[in-house]
Amino acid sequence: MQQAIAILDSGVGGLTVAKEVMRQLPREKIIYFGDTARTPYGPRSSEQVKQFTEQIVDFLIQFNPKVIVIACNTATAAALEYIRAKVNVPVIGVIHPGARAAIMATRTGRIGVIGTVGTIGSGAYTSALKQLSPYVDVVSQACPALVPLVEKGEFRSEHTTHTVDQALGDIKGQPIDCLILGCTHYPFLMDTIQDVMGQDVKLISSADETAREISTILYDKRKLASGDETPVHQFFCTGDPRMFQNITKQWLGEQISKTPVVWQVTQLS
Ligand code: DGL
Repeated sequence: MQQAIAILDSGVGGLTVAKEVMRQLPREKIIYFGDTARTPYGPRSSEQVKQFTEQIVDFLIQFNPKVIVIACNTATAAALEYIRAKVNVPVIGVIHPGARAAIMATRTGRIGVIGTVGTIGSGAYTSALKQLSPYVDVVSQACPALVPLVEKGEFRSEHTTHTVDQALGDIKGQPIDCLILGCTHYPFLMDTIQDVMGQDVKLISSADETAREISTILYDKRKLASGDETPVHQFFCTGDPRMFQNITKQWLGEQISKTPVVWQVTQLS
């Protein structure tokens, strides 16, 4: 049986990473886990997010994945080091890849970060950016209103534009040249965020760089899938499967149109 890349998130946000992994590594099998019954993670304590992440990892480990991707910034901030110490499989988060992508893209060194209350409160992006370069100025803002919009599938509407505009209030006027979408749900709202921020600000998603990191790790470990076998992707969610499946099919349309897909609902405790 083909060993999979396991990808987890509080809900549909990690699909933004899964899509890029499927694009860059189309031979690889993906097992995706969205904890849709307990989303959002952003307002929860880091202890609780760590506990939820551990439960998901305990569930995923039974499939013997070749790598585990914490495709959730909030869970990366709360649990990456803890999970790395716990399992014997490479574990990748999304914060360092996002920070690296911003450092590559910025010209002025003035970088904005938006994310959940948990991610922004942890200061993880500021630390990751400063670790890479002392020459950056970082401004950040929590945008708790955005994840619920995405989980409801409201990607483009008047209400969405209004909510995004309100949520980006303070960061809009800042002299930044890059804005890190420090929550994997936000690329679903990319067009609206770009309209609100203006065309001069480059939006950075960690998805591309995370997929590149997975590719490098699998290459180094001689674990890249080979052969012409079509991978059968598996999608797990913990809540109502209808919305989850709709959003997944809409977002991954092309990527999963030619591959068989298995859907499962599961409970964690
Ligand atoms: N998509 C997640 C993140 O990147 C979590 C959002 C949430 O559940 O609040 O932070």
